[in-house]
Amino acid sequence: METRPNHVQDQTPEGAKDWLAEADRLLPGGLLGRGGLPRDVRFVAARGEGARIFDTEGRAYVDYLAGAGALILGYGHPAVTAAIRHQAGEGVLFFSTPSVPTLRLAQAIAEAVPSAEKVVLTTTGSEATQYALRFARAFTGHDRILKFEGAYHGNHDAVQMNTARRARSNSAVGESDSLGVAHAVEETVLIAPYNDLEAVERIVREHRRELAAIIVDPIQRGGVFPLPDFLPGLRRIADDNGVLLVFDEVIVGFRLAYGGAQEHFGVIPDLASLGKIMGGGLPIGAVAGRAEILSLADTGRGDLADHVLINGTHHGMALAAAAGLAALEALRQPGVYDRLNAWSDTLRAEVRGLLERHSVPAVVDGLGSFWHLAFADRPHRNHADSLAADAKRIKAFDTELIRNGVHLFPGGRRLVTTAHGDAEMEDTLRAVDAACRRVGAA
Ligand SMILES: Cc1ncc(COP(=O)(O)O)c(C=O)c1O
Repeated sequence: METRPNHVQDQTPEGAKDWLAEADRLLPGGLLGRGGLPRDVRFVAARGEGARIFDTEGRAYVDYLAGAGALILGYGHPAVTAAIRHQAGEGVLFFSTPSVPTLRLAQAIAEAVPSAEKVVLTTTGSEATQYALRFARAFTGHDRILKFEGAYHGNHDAVQMNTARRARSNSAVGESDSLGVAHAVEETVLIAPYNDLEAVERIVREHRRELAAIIVDPIQRGGVFPLPDFLPGLRRIADDNGVLLVFDEVIVGFRLAYGGAQEHFGVIPDLASLGKIMGGGLPIGAVAGRAEILSLADTGRGDLADHVLINGTHHGMALAAAAGLAALEALRQPGVYDRLNAWSDTLRAEVRGLLERHSVPAVVDGLGSFWHLAFADRPHRNHADSLAADAKRIKAFDTELIRNGVHLFPGGRRLVTTAHGDAEMEDTLRAVDAACRRVGAA
């Protein structure tokens, strides 16, 4: 078997079967989600360990996808694995009956997240944003929401708008990124550019009588980080106009800080959606917010039509709650976030240094354990900036990184885990150096 540079060889490759061919035969596009990689860098995962993924050919990759952010402790963290094993023997789900792990997880959320007067548990982050918006509509009696151009809030129709690259800048109402979304839904979504309080204020004032909520990802995909006055400004605009502020903390929750964006930025929304890390890698989500809003789900209030309906077979399932509790306990240990963020700072500085040495004009941006690389002349402040960056070049660069043993989504978010150590730093920098030589200075 041919090896690629920088790849650590797995001792137990599955080898023989052409799993990529199986993926192509069975899955649309050979994928579970988005893709678009050249075939020679596509692979099928055999297993993960710490900060690395091993493919079915026995090659290893330093992983910066981290289960789309869910695996902040890396693969196979012993405490999380033990909790899953234990809970599997105790009962994986009890449907609508609360279980002890589920309640402990709700307690942990209430202690960590400032907005969490009450907690509604879901199965995914997408459901968490879907329910948050349903609560906002029910509470305000208004139908429309405002979201930011380029922001991803999950896979449901109401937010599958203006996240894709083709989205035009500053369109007034939503443009779906997916076939199959009813046009009527687009009309319920207003679109604003990120980091532009003036535009937000104008749109919110104009539509305040039909607007339920502003939903914002405190760190938006595409390497878009908030300017210091942006999130406090959204809080003020929401208050001034009687609309709710929803933080989508599905990816930043328990990552930017244990108390998420609310703790990091000191801004408290009315509702927050959570997911990923709080399930220790298993599917779970939550809406954490003001009691008077979330109490609309209380079925003791009378007629069913008077409720926000919350119902799902796997909502708040015990197995995921147990895994999440183990993950959160590991994250509460002293110094965890300091070490994670310091490692990420060092990586960003080293990558910047390498790019400079190779005279590659790129921007390395980031915050905490998020990092981002773009062929652009300034950091991204909104989706239009992301669109202006050189997409072809970052794809070529990142493809070269994968070829050299670094796993990421070309042009996408890079997430560090607590399992990234000296060896991963060394291997990543070697891959960046190779990518700079190959495509960087071209
Ligand atoms: C900010 C944000 N919101 C919502 C979601 C959707 O979460 P899930 O994939 O668990 O449905 C994601 C997932 O990537 C996300 O990053």
